[in-house]
Amino acid sequence: MCGIVGYVGGKKAQDILVGGLRRLEYRGYDSAGIATLDDKNEAHITRSVGKIAELSKALESEPQTGHLGIGHTRWATHGGVTETNAHPHHAGNIYMVHNGIIENYKELKAELKDYKFASDTDTEVLAALIDSNYKDGISLKDAVAKSLKRIRGTYGIAVFSPKEPGTLVVARLGSPLIIGLGQGETLIASDASALLGYTREAIYLNDGELAVCTDKGAEVFTLSLKHLDSKPETIEGDLAQIQKGGYDHFLLKEIMEQATTLHNTLSGRIDPKAGKMHLGGPNLTEKEMRDIHHVVIVGCGTAYYAGLLASYYMEQLVPDLTTEVVIASEYRYRSFHLPKDSVALVVSQSGETADTLACLREIKKRGIKTLGIVNVVGSTIAREVDGGTYVHAGPEISVASTKAFTAQVVAMLMFAGMIAEYHGGDPKLIAEFTRELEILPAEIEKTLNDNRETMEKLAKKYSKFDHALYLGRDTAFPIALEGALKLKEISYIHAEGYASGELKHGPIALIDDRFFEVFTILDNWLFDKSCGGLHEVRARGGKTIVLTNSKADIEADDIVRIDSPIKLLMPILLNTLQQLFAYYVAVDRGNDVDQPRNLAKSVTVE
Ligand code: G6P
Repeated sequence: MCGIVGYVGGKKAQDILVGGLRRLEYRGYDSAGIATLDDKNEAHITRSVGKIAELSKALESEPQTGHLGIGHTRWATHGGVTETNAHPHHAGNIYMVHNGIIENYKELKAELKDYKFASDTDTEVLAALIDSNYKDGISLKDAVAKSLKRIRGTYGIAVFSPKEPGTLVVARLGSPLIIGLGQGETLIASDASALLGYTREAIYLNDGELAVCTDKGAEVFTLSLKHLDSKPETIEGDLAQIQKGGYDHFLLKEIMEQATTLHNTLSGRIDPKAGKMHLGGPNLTEKEMRDIHHVVIVGCGTAYYAGLLASYYMEQLVPDLTTEVVIASEYRYRSFHLPKDSVALVVSQSGETADTLACLREIKKRGIKTLGIVNVVGSTIAREVDGGTYVHAGPEISVASTKAFTAQVVAMLMFAGMIAEYHGGDPKLIAEFTRELEILPAEIEKTLNDNRETMEKLAKKYSKFDHALYLGRDTAFPIALEGALKLKEISYIHAEGYASGELKHGPIALIDDRFFEVFTILDNWLFDKSCGGLHEVRARGGKTIVLTNSKADIEADDIVRIDSPIKLLMPILLNTLQQLFAYYVAVDRGNDVDQPRNLAKSVTVE
């Protein structure tokens, strides 16, 4: 949600701010703006509704020349999408950008009677509060700290004032903020990808911390103004990873590069010769692994579905393990109880999702060990869990999650394979999973290359339908849910995922000529039962697509068959076809594939 950038140094701030916002645009993209301080200490704000391209256009006619500034790309929470509600906001001597939600902004607004508010935002109220405390010789740092103590809610902020040129004050509580330390310049970003190419050295601000940044670096404090010694860390990744690399869209690139990214997920973690899997990150002793009898998996959106699929695999691999997969936004408010011999897997691509983070904290309060299944290195969830595993899928820029799903499932599978050994898991089955994991990247590559055109043609055929039902049984059920999510996110076709056994308990009533149905049918012991649902739909005139690895006769309007030695992991392979299908449907409908309407990549607000 919302991207923040900031700059202080010798270069023209506008270029760096706009460039950084472009990289963060996937976090929110309904409006954007920058504010800079020029060499005469005059502040200038430019804002516009729409994407960063609109902001660039606006800046062409009124370029900003200063060497210090802040920028923001917005995903609206308080107040509609208008230029007045876009950031940066300004009150008195305060210029500010904000990511997060100030819950008590109405109460504060009522107190700030001397201010006239131009926008409907909570951010402008915080700017006014800081300004009201910024007097009688008090410094910007002290005014910010004093004001933030009054805030209920979450924030990542960057603030400057013409009264203290050369200084940016930043602070965070629940919304990420990273300070990039360059040569004679300091950069601020809500996501490390905006810092790539400028510096590799960064301070990751923790919750409740504030920093004063100048062109010489940054000093970090608590809100009680205690000075902290914060060690810079190294930012991972490179610029190529955040570029489209010749593809039309990030989404297509991210789908097609899954063989490579999965290779990174697996690297050093499987031993196909010994038939074993091992993850170092969870850092569990043999006794700890033996003592786990319950796994709760927490996530939102695609991460939740990855957890659901992984739970099926866990049950297959670990005989005495119970699993529970929960939606973070629900779980955080439930009066849940967990047995002491539980471990929580906290799954998040971004590592910043507010609901998932809140669950992590709730689970920790109950004394349960938490392990992260996270992609973004150094993200908040990764920092707060007791241990865990980076999935190493590389930056995922497109809003719809694809390669991260594959990596998350595989990382959790390896966790299951590892603990299975200490729970009397069948060594043959563990070895079989390991063998399949070893060949999975190459099989994904082949599947995607062999079927890309087919999926494009199929997408064109079905792109004008209004509704879709995705159906699957057993391990194909989570894939049905994920397939429907992908389609609805980027094509805006209404799509539902269902367990095919549930078809006759409701969804079959929907079938008419505005619907099509996608069946994922696995060549396994449930094959006949999986075909049952297909027959029922066809008998009622439904239009059906089947994705399968079976060679048996199947009647459907369209069948995509995969010939692969992969069996157990077939759902992961078939899911990559669903990703391609959703992509091409969205392209055919002329949608903004990488930045679908109303969505954001990293949901840092509740
Ligand atoms: C948003 C994204 C989804 C993602 C979900 C969870 O809704 O649009 O693609 O699956 O958040 O995100 P996380 O970063 O926690 O995996």
